[in-house]
Amino acid sequence: MKTQKLETKASQAQLDHRETLYKLFKDTPIPTDQLLMHLGLYMRSSALAKILFVNELYELIKDVPGSIMEFGCWLGQNIILFENLRAINEPFNQNRRVIGFDTFGGYASLSAVDGDSEVITGEGYALPANYPDYLKELIAYHESNNILSHISKHQIVQGDVVKTFPQFLKDNPGEMVALAYFDLAVYEPSKVCFQAIRERLVPGSVLLMDEYNFKEYPGATIAFREVFGDTGYKIKKSRYMTDRAIVIID
Ligand SMILES: C[S@@+](CC[C@H](N)C(=O)[O-])C[C@H]1O[C@@H](n2cnc3c(N)ncnc32)[C@H](O)[C@@H]1O
Repeated sequence: MKTQKLETKASQAQLDHRETLYKLFKDTPIPTDQLLMHLGLYMRSSALAKILFVNELYELIKDVPGSIMEFGCWLGQNIILFENLRAINEPFNQNRRVIGFDTFGGYASLSAVDGDSEVITGEGYALPANYPDYLKELIAYHESNNILSHISKHQIVQGDVVKTFPQFLKDNPGEMVALAYFDLAVYEPSKVCFQAIRERLVPGSVLLMDEYNFKEYPGATIAFREVFGDTGYKIKKSRYMTDRAIVIID
């Protein structure tokens, strides 16, 4: 699969060093069944931190009713991790749905406040046309492998969230939100989603801000401030991804 190379803050030495790992992975002598059970062999500390971070979020909402949503799910790793954390932590909770939103074609709309990083103005994050179907097949596989597999508990919603999320809420008037992972980075879609989601949050609901106080992408922080102000929630850093902000609704 070809995707455009994403902007990185890694140094050239770090990038060169990663090539060694890519080669070791590509040339692995381990058969696929064993490889999939031992992926930690190839996981850099930054990739491991991302998984620990997703678990940190799940721990925060274990006692909070409602669904898990990701706005800007891209390849869908978090969606798959949430499905499997659900299966591990609360296998009989059929009401913990996992829903991912993305255009799967990259950024749809930009506002003046969003800056001009090439990642969001260019083809960054655009995926091949068949990727949403691939992701749906993958999550269906994981669900079928877990308990209560006959009850569908996930949804992948393709399109611009400015339209798809209000429509989703209309179509699902009883859907409440325990955890909303915001990774859209830009102003307008973030603002539309923050406004729409407010009435579906409960005390203890968690909003994850992937880009908070982020110099290159100020849009999401501005939208958050405009909708939520500075009261009615607590905010803290993630323990594992220390530049991510975790908002807990009072
Ligand atoms: C930073 S990436 C998400 C990365 C992902 N959360 C992860 O942790 O791997 C941002 C995603 O937001 C999506 N996106 C941007 N604007 C959008 C919009 N208006 N509607 C739906 N998705 C959008 C992009 O397509 C992109 O996949």
